[in-house]
Amino acid sequence: MLNPQTLPSYLIQSDAVRERFARLKAREPILEVRGLGKRFVTPQGEHTALHDVSFTTHRREFVCVIGPSGCGKSTLIRILAGLETQTEGDVLVNGNAVRGPGADRGMVFQGYTLFPWLTVKKNVMFGLRMNGQGAGEAEREAMQWLDLVGLEAFANAYPHQLSGGMKQRVAIARALANRPKILLMDEPFGALDAQTRAKMQTHLLDIWRNVDVTVLFITHDLDEAIFLADRILVLKANPGEVQELIEVPVPRPRGYEQFTSPEFVATRARLDALIHPPVVEPDDDARVRPHMIRLTDVNDVVE
Ligand SMILES: Nc1ncnc2c1ncn2[C@@H]1O[C@H](COP(=O)(O)OP(=O)(O)O)[C@@H](O)[C@H]1O
Ligand SMILES: [Mg+2]
Repeated sequence: MLNPQTLPSYLIQSDAVRERFARLKAREPILEVRGLGKRFVTPQGEHTALHDVSFTTHRREFVCVIGPSGCGKSTLIRILAGLETQTEGDVLVNGNAVRGPGADRGMVFQGYTLFPWLTVKKNVMFGLRMNGQGAGEAEREAMQWLDLVGLEAFANAYPHQLSGGMKQRVAIARALANRPKILLMDEPFGALDAQTRAKMQTHLLDIWRNVDVTVLFITHDLDEAIFLADRILVLKANPGEVQELIEVPVPRPRGYEQFTSPEFVATRARLDALIHPPVVEPDDDARVRPHMIRLTDVNDVVE
């Protein structure tokens, strides 16, 4: 195991990684978030969910957003999607202010949001038909997207016949079929078992490599964020503010063998420190620990 004391800093990048970031930042900005704030008025009073959030993502960048539960991740993505309005600041997609939902942004949520009464193919065709495409052309395109996510054999199946991972692949195909500039994903693999989740992460990176799309991916899984992202936006709670925008020093292409690499472990240690800062309250612990009655022989010791 790598010793945290002797780890390199997560800020150190190899030449290849540094050059990759330079190329990435030279690409045009797709999403610009400036001084974003959101206050909710509730019967209990005002609650600031987001405060002064600013960042820029570039074309074909993969950004992960992490932060503790309740720090405003879903609120942020809903504002970017145009499903919620901010109380301060601006969101620009390709230089245009977001004023509501639009075809330039596709969404994939954690819960399965497919239409249960439509086949897989018709689910993917739905947005295309809404945009006025003819049935034949929409079907051809839908089949191409299903091919990309590896589900062409299930085109005529209904959502209830699919596993959780397959449903999310259809959701990704459906979102991408509308050719969004940005794919907004809110904990899309959160409900999947560990093995399916790992497969979906690799699969998503494969798709992303083949499609001209910028991904904003919310997760509370730190390893998932490092595995997927170019950069990780770390939020803190109460109010939701940007703590740090981390450039992931792990080279691409990514693989699971990198989980134990010094860059990965160093980034993981930094995220841990930001998300789970050490709590110094030793007395609290002693107070709440219940009194234990010993129900075994005195010499019967276990570790
Ligand atoms: N519609 C709403 N009305 C009032 N408060 C809300 C509403 N939506 C979210 N909140 C509050 O805003 C904060 C951020 O919520 P959310 O964006 O869902 O966090 P996360 O996705 O990071 O867990 C929470 O404290 C939540 O209770
Ligand atoms: Mg959420």
